[in-house]
Amino acid sequence: MEFETKAVHMGEEPDLERGSGDVVVPIHLSSTFARKKVNEPTQGYEYSRTGNPTREALEKRLAALEDASFGLAFASGMAAESTLAITLLHTGDHVLAFDDLYGGTRRLFNRILDPHFKVEVTYADARDLRRTKEAIRSNTRLIWLESPTNPLMKICDIAAIAEIAREANIPVVVDNTFLSPYFQKPLRLGAKVVVHSSTKYLNGHSDSVGGAVMLSDEDLYRQLKFNQNAMGAILSPFDSFLVLRGIKTLAVRMREHERNALRLAGYLEGHPKVRKVNYPGLKSHPQHALANRQATGHGGMLSFEIKGGLEEAKRFLESVRLFALAESLGGVESLIEHPALMTHASVPKEIREQGGLTDSLIRVSVGIEHIDDLIADFDRAFQKIG
Ligand SMILES: Cc1ncc(COP(=O)(O)O)c(C=O)c1O
Repeated sequence: MEFETKAVHMGEEPDLERGSGDVVVPIHLSSTFARKKVNEPTQGYEYSRTGNPTREALEKRLAALEDASFGLAFASGMAAESTLAITLLHTGDHVLAFDDLYGGTRRLFNRILDPHFKVEVTYADARDLRRTKEAIRSNTRLIWLESPTNPLMKICDIAAIAEIAREANIPVVVDNTFLSPYFQKPLRLGAKVVVHSSTKYLNGHSDSVGGAVMLSDEDLYRQLKFNQNAMGAILSPFDSFLVLRGIKTLAVRMREHERNALRLAGYLEGHPKVRKVNYPGLKSHPQHALANRQATGHGGMLSFEIKGGLEEAKRFLESVRLFALAESLGGVESLIEHPALMTHASVPKEIREQGGLTDSLIRVSVGIEHIDDLIADFDRAFQKIG
């Protein structure tokens, strides 16, 4: 079955035998499920934290999108990441992570895992395979990647790193939030687990916070499922319905996001007030060829450096009208933000600047509005900064 078909149908087949034939899965709000016999839960359901039919419909669809055997839906991307970390790591373990990650992931590693569980994390430039290999230690139990990274849009070679990790028997987790499974399938490239903030492209309408984990290793799935139930980080039935609905248009939306992002990136690249544009779909992106090889598209996220500094960036951000000045990404509406002051404010300034996350960097989540309106909004904002 092709991606678009799975996105519409998987997990939501009408039940003509036992149900009423709903074409859309019902939102099962019940927190508990009645049974006839003490030790026989009805159709396997007992309590909604443990299992809920609406959430399970979504989990089936999530798995199908990443060509995985199993999917799990969490209360947020960070809930998914925390559950994964607690499941895969123990005191004294070491994590090797890409040095340009979502700020909240770094916060989880540095402020929770390290101080509370004595899990040490090394950040390496995963674009450099030799350095990545050298950073592996005898106690490395996890390699954590994003590609493209948030917000600098760096690309790492997932298959090559997965191969290095396989030799050392270390699981690779890829945060696939930015490209979504429509454009990139990390499990096919050798990753063990894929994680998403479903808040972003999977849901796609900026009206639900959620997370997802997809994988094919059955033992690890069972541990994660046990831990998710034990720790409670589940997605609500209503949010499960919203994400199920959002995913139906994922392919259509991603194509439009990419089309607009490519046009906007080209416009910015030619603009005299822009120093640099980070978008893997541009030929000028240092890993354009790798991006073309490991993904089927480049998505709707880009970042750029405005000429000047913090003042110019702030003035630009406060001058746009159509783009909402807001954190998050992946919705149909265009968003714009300042990573250093907003999404990545929890990353210490010297670490931000070492990696190129400067005060003049602006991140854009390009929506699916008409591109002419988006460019006109930027034109107006550039004129305002003088
Ligand atoms: C790449 C990436 N991963 C994970 C997260 C965390 O997801 P959530 O906000 O749903 O907890 C985000 C949030 O912005 C993100 O951008």
